[in-house]
Amino acid sequence: MNHEQIIKAASFIKGKIEETPRIGLILGSGLGVLADEIENPVKIAYSDIPGFPESTVEGHAGQFVFGTLKGAFVAAMQGRFHFYEGYSMEKVTFPVRVMKEIGIGTLIVTNAAGGINESFEPGDLMLITDHINNIGTNPLIGHNDHNLGVRFPDLSEAYSKNLRLLAKNTAEKTGLSLQEGIYIANSGPSYETPAEIRMLRSWGGDAVGMSTVPEVIVARHSGLEVLGISCISNMAAGILDQPLSHSEVMETTEKVKASFLQFVKELVHDIHSTTKR
Ligand code: HPA
Repeated sequence: MNHEQIIKAASFIKGKIEETPRIGLILGSGLGVLADEIENPVKIAYSDIPGFPESTVEGHAGQFVFGTLKGAFVAAMQGRFHFYEGYSMEKVTFPVRVMKEIGIGTLIVTNAAGGINESFEPGDLMLITDHINNIGTNPLIGHNDHNLGVRFPDLSEAYSKNLRLLAKNTAEKTGLSLQEGIYIANSGPSYETPAEIRMLRSWGGDAVGMSTVPEVIVARHSGLEVLGISCISNMAAGILDQPLSHSEVMETTEKVKASFLQFVKELVHDIHSTTKR
């Protein structure tokens, strides 16, 4: 996907919205309901946008929802593209390039993840402090377009320290207990083995999932500020004596929906009020 394709998709979207979003949201498995809270929504199906693939996974609607959330005009992705669906890394991260081109400065990424840290419980929300890319590839491999970012982007603060502080304040204010930790991305789609989870724990991982990291790498390459939230939908393999299933993931996210919604809405409000002016 070259710069021209990014501009083409962004222009298509700009032609349908009346304001410029400054905050982008990627809503993970079961968390797309947040977009239903957006006022005066303008919904654009990914399949209508030039250059966009269609999303296939259960629990994802596959559309952008633009509109106002807590006074902020936002771009929300109801559903994302995963590497395990067979999309190239370029396709997986194309929406991030497009949101940047439209005008966002901050990206909030969310996902459902398995808890590696044994002090976590299903239903916890975890602020992502850092990540480990264990997917085995990188979305920036290949020709680097200098107009999009540098060849060797720095990831020493992939998840903005300022935004993390803000998020902790927001959590405190709303009486929400927020875990913190390191997110490890695997390609999936099989869940991990117990041996792999022990390995990931020894690496310092707190949660494991199959998304987010490619989008965050591209967001940082593009100069976006990133905030990441994982919804711990299940304990990772081998921790509890029970098998893992996508329906468990969806059930837990359903249960934490209310606190997730409230938290992310407050976050958007707080980010908006500190970044406008
Ligand atoms: N492993 C990987 N990805 C996941 C998990 C998990 O346990 N739960 C939700 N997404």
